Amino acid sequence: MKATDFLTIDDLRARAKKRIPKLAFDYLDGGAGNEANIARNRQGFADIVLCPEYLRDVSERNQKVTLFGHTYDAPIGVSPVGLANLIWPKVDTYLATMAREQNIPYTLSAVGTTSIERIAEIAPDHAWFQLYVPGQEYICFELLKRAKAAGMKVLVVTVDIPVPSKRMRDLRNDFTMPFKMTPKIIWDIARKPSWALATLANGKPRFENMVPYIDDAAAGKSLGAAQALQVSPTLDEELMRRIRAAWDGPMLIKGILSPGSAKAAKRVGADGIIVSNHGGRQLDSAPSSIEALPRIVDEVGDSMTIMLDSGVRTGGDIVKAYCLGADFVFSGRSFVFGVGALGEAGGQHVLNMFAEEVDIALAQIGCTDIANLGAEYLWQP
Ligand SMILES: Cc1cc2nc3c(=O)[nH]c(=O)nc-3n(C[C@H](O)[C@H](O)[C@H](O)COP(=O)(O)O)c2cc1C
Repeated sequence: MKATDFLTIDDLRARAKKRIPKLAFDYLDGGAGNEANIARNRQGFADIVLCPEYLRDVSERNQKVTLFGHTYDAPIGVSPVGLANLIWPKVDTYLATMAREQNIPYTLSAVGTTSIERIAEIAPDHAWFQLYVPGQEYICFELLKRAKAAGMKVLVVTVDIPVPSKRMRDLRNDFTMPFKMTPKIIWDIARKPSWALATLANGKPRFENMVPYIDDAAAGKSLGAAQALQVSPTLDEELMRRIRAAWDGPMLIKGILSPGSAKAAKRVGADGIIVSNHGGRQLDSAPSSIEALPRIVDEVGDSMTIMLDSGVRTGGDIVKAYCLGADFVFSGRSFVFGVGALGEAGGQHVLNMFAEEVDIALAQIGCTDIANLGAEYLWQP
C-alpha cells in the first residue's frame, strides 16, 4: 500500500478497522449513548466556512505556535488516549517518539499503557501529563509527584468524567480488561493476525501508571479499576485549587464546554483550558467543542490559553478553530487511526496530512501566519 492510498483520516480509519479486533476498534471509535455528539463534532466543523482572499503575497507561510515558552512546529498535538496499546501495541511510544521528532506536544494519559517515566525519557521536552482525579485523592497527588520528578512539562487535568458514561458499543461487546476469552473474542482476534502477533510480542497492555494503586482503587476486574481511577464525582474548585498548589508548571483543565466552567478554571488558577467533549465519549447531548468555543473565548480568551479537541479530522478544521480563537488544537483518534492503519509510521503520516492541509488552507484564505487567524477569515453569511 502506498501513502496516497490514505489521503484522509477516514481512509486510515477504514484500514485500522480491518486490522484491529472489533472489541478494541469499537473502544477507540465509539462514544457515549447514540453517538450523536460524535456526529455533532464533525457537523460543527462542516457548518463553518472559510472565506478565500486572493491578491495577497502568500509565498511564505508559518504554522509554528509558541506555548508556555516552547515553539512547536505544528499547530496540533496528540490528545491523551487511555489504554492505547490495546488498540495497537506500542501506540504510546510510537506517538511520543513522533512528537519529539516532529516537535509537537504528546499528552500521556493517567490511564495510559506506558509509564510516566518511560514517556518522559522518550520525549523529555514534548511530553505533557494528563491527570484524572480519582476518589482516592492520594493517588492523584502521587501521580503529580511522579510526573514532576520525571520532568513532564505541562499538566492537563481532565474534569469531564464525574461518573462513567454509557458507551453502548463497549457494553454490547462485553468489554472488560483483561479480555474474557469467549469464543466470539477468540474468533475476533484470530481474524486480525498482525494485531495478534504484535500483541503477543509486546505483552498484555496494562495501566502502567496505576499498578501501585490499582488494588486500592477497585477490587476485581481491572477495567472496573480503570473506571474507578478515572471518575471524579467529588472534584470541585477546592480540590482543584489543591492540585494547582501541588504543580508549579503550566496547568490546563480539559473538558470545558461552557463559559461558566471556563471562569471556574480561571478562578482556581489554571493557565489554560482545553475545550473538549472527550471526543463525544461523555455526554451524548453535549455541544460540539467548536460550537462551544466562541463564547468561552469571549469570556476568558484575554486571560487564558484556550485549546480545543474533539472531532478535528482535517487541516481545515484546525484553521477554523484558530479563526474562532483557539491558541492550539489536539486530536486523539486521528493519530491512533494512523498507527492502527500504518503502524509506527502512522502518526507522522497523520501529522504530515494535517500540516499540508493547514498550509494549503492558509494560502487559500490569504493568511501567511497561523498566529494571525481570526474571525475575518470566516465566511459571514
Ligand atoms: C480511546 C480513547 C481513549 C481516551 N482516553 C482519554 C484519557 O485517558 N484521558 C483524557 O483526558 N481523554 C481521553 N480521551 C479523549 C481524548 O483525549 C480527546 O479528548 C478526544 O479523543 C478528542 O476527540 P477526537 O478523538 O475526535 O480527536 C480518549 C479518547 C479516546 C478515543
